[in-house]
Amino acid sequence: MRELVAETSLGASDLILPLFYADVNREIPSMPGVFQHDRDSMLRAVHDALDAGVRCVDVFGVPTDKDDIGSGAWDPEGILNRGLRALREEFGNDIMLMADTCLDEFTSHGHCGVVTEDGVVDNDATLPLYQKMAVAQAEAGAHIVSPSGMMDGQVGAIRNALDDAGYIDVAIMAYSAKYASAFYGPFRDAVGSSLHGDRTTYQQDPANARESLLEVELDIEQGADFVMVKPALPYLAVLRAVADISTVPVAAYQVSGEYAMIQSAVHWGNREALMMESLLSIKRAGANQILTYFATEVAQKL
Ligand code: PBG
Repeated sequence: MRELVAETSLGASDLILPLFYADVNREIPSMPGVFQHDRDSMLRAVHDALDAGVRCVDVFGVPTDKDDIGSGAWDPEGILNRGLRALREEFGNDIMLMADTCLDEFTSHGHCGVVTEDGVVDNDATLPLYQKMAVAQAEAGAHIVSPSGMMDGQVGAIRNALDDAGYIDVAIMAYSAKYASAFYGPFRDAVGSSLHGDRTTYQQDPANARESLLEVELDIEQGADFVMVKPALPYLAVLRAVADISTVPVAAYQVSGEYAMIQSAVHWGNREALMMESLLSIKRAGANQILTYFATEVAQKL
C-alpha cells in the first residue's frame, strides 16, 4: 500500500556520479569510499556506474601544477581535459560526460576566479577564462559543462563561446544557487585545494533564499539547460522554491560533507537507510537530478 501511494521515487537515471581524476589512485581520507582516480580506475568506476544504470558522471581534475590564473584548466593536456578525452574514447555517447567548469582546482590561491592585487576576485576578468575552459572541455568530449564558480554572467558568456566554437549541442548545467558552505570541507581534501580565505564574496549567504531565485532566473535567461541548488539537504527549502519557479530541470548536489556525515553512520546507525532517505528527501523537495557520491551504490540497489 505504501508503494502504491508513494508520491516520490528514486531512479538510477536520476543520479549523477562526481569523479576525481588525478594521476594517482588513492582513497580520500575525509570521504571513505571515494577515490582520486588514475586512468584505469576511473574507467572501471564509470563502467560500474553505467552498468548500474547511472547516465551521467561529473568529472573534476586534480592537477599537480597550479598557477595564478589556472591555465591548466584550458590546456588540452591539463588533467581534466585528458580525463574527459579518455572517457569519451572509452564510452562515446553511452554515458553523459559533465565537466566541472571552474578554476579553483587549477589556481595557486584556490579561488574560482582571477584575484586582483588587493586580493578580491575579479568577476569580469574571470569570464573569458571560463569561456576558454568550457570550449576546451567541449573539445575534449564533454556533453555538459557545469560552471560552478558563481561569477555573474558566466552562463551567457559560456553559451556564446560554445556556440561560436560550433558546440551548439553542448549543454550547460548552471550552479545557480551555490551557497558559501562549510559542507564542502571534505571536497577541499579531495581536490587538494589550496584555498586561502573563503568564498563569501561570490557564493550565496546561507541566511538567504530570495537571492537564489534571482540567480536562477538570470541563469535561465542566459541559456542554462539545468539549474542547480547546492548543498542539498541543508537547503531543501531553497530547492523547493527553485523547483516551483524553474522552467528547466533542477539538479541538487549532495556534497562531500553530507556524504561524510552519512558514511559516519557506520558507527552509530543504519548507513544505507540514511543514504536512501536523504536522496528521497532531496527528490521530494523538487530535484530532477541528484549529484551524489553514492550514485553507483544506490543505482545498484535500485
Ligand atoms: C568548485 C566546487 C566545489 C564543490 C564542487 N565544485 C567547492 C567549493 O565551491 O568550494 C564542492 C563539492 C562537494 O563538496 O562535494 N569547483
